[in-house]
Amino acid sequence: MAHKRGVVENGGEDMIPYGKQFIDQQDIEAVVEVLKSDYLTTGPKVEEFEERLANRIGAKYVVAVANGTASLHLGALALLKKGDKVLTTPNSFVATSNAILYAGAVPVFVDIQEDGNIDLDKAIELVKKDSSIKALFGVHFSGNPLNKKKLHILKEMGVKILEDASHALGAKYKEGGEVGDCEASDITTFSFHPVKIITTAEGGAIATNDKTIYQKVKLLRTHGIKKSGEWEDNELIKGDWYYEMVELGFNYRLSELHSVLGISQLKKLDSFLKRRREIASFYDRAFKNSSFRPLYPFNPNSAYHLYVLLSDIPKKFIFEKVKKRGVSLQVHYIPINKQPYYQSLGYGDEELPKMYRYYQKAFSIPIFPSLEKEKYVVEVLKEVEDEFMRNSS
Ligand SMILES: Cc1ncc(COP(=O)(O)O)c(C=O)c1O
Repeated sequence: MAHKRGVVENGGEDMIPYGKQFIDQQDIEAVVEVLKSDYLTTGPKVEEFEERLANRIGAKYVVAVANGTASLHLGALALLKKGDKVLTTPNSFVATSNAILYAGAVPVFVDIQEDGNIDLDKAIELVKKDSSIKALFGVHFSGNPLNKKKLHILKEMGVKILEDASHALGAKYKEGGEVGDCEASDITTFSFHPVKIITTAEGGAIATNDKTIYQKVKLLRTHGIKKSGEWEDNELIKGDWYYEMVELGFNYRLSELHSVLGISQLKKLDSFLKRRREIASFYDRAFKNSSFRPLYPFNPNSAYHLYVLLSDIPKKFIFEKVKKRGVSLQVHYIPINKQPYYQSLGYGDEELPKMYRYYQKAFSIPIFPSLEKEKYVVEVLKEVEDEFMRNSS
């Protein structure tokens, strides 16, 4: 998120955003180096980024793409057929369920559990009752991993699984393994938007252990065009100029510039995670004697893309007061099924009591590796709490 200037009472300092990229001299030099090279689009850096990411997360194959939404789109096309029912979470950015719609499939919103993640026990119950449910698109919300065992159970039941790990690069399952290993899923997707764990400016990736999925996604990333391989049979276009379009694909490629930034950022992943976890642990302790409650007890396995607080104080009051003191908050997320477009499709009346209760109380506070003012964030929120208590007594 950009560093915004605001009218603030704390001496006119810059607003503290809820999330922000960390770019250093090495990142800049890596990008400049590529600018001077022969390749700006597809070249060696894309493959190197894919390889390094695959090694890090423990997946067989990684395909880098233009953004996280593109990774979900291609993932949906690789897994779904028109009309498939797909269980998903209402507590995500709209891109997760939009991808199901792109594939002509039907999102079915499942309620969340206390930690903001989709309730996988409910999902299992639903699958037992309805054989037209073909897949589940889950999100590791805030970087807190879904239960791998329960994903396994769903997979064993024949449900295709896509893990949206946009928040969760570097997170670990409590059952073992790193998010992205695809041990309990068909596909894991990532976003490298600036507020995420690492950034390539815009960027995303698809991880899978399945060669067929890998090949399909790779083909769809570049217009469905093949340039080598089974050409010899095609007399019509045999020759050095040869290319063949075999599927209706897209231009969802990630450039060399973005990829080299990704390589450079990946080298800092562990230090980013360490700092995010440090801030989360600080907030946990700092809010202990307040009415603000962390969404879940400290989890050293979470990537802490977000730090969510729950409060009974009306959000509008909190947002207005902290903004004046230079702190930006955000809400993750407005229930997707309540969005006007989804309402126009007939969604909106689902019984999702935990999601609606969560939405009443939840907001995200600043967390990013270069944050230096976490004490100030706590101070401001505690002042707002005091002010609310005084007004209401
Ligand atoms: C959970 C989730 N999925 C998907 C996306 C989409 O990623 P991108 O912005 O890279 O397209 C986001 C980004 O905000 C996200 O938070």
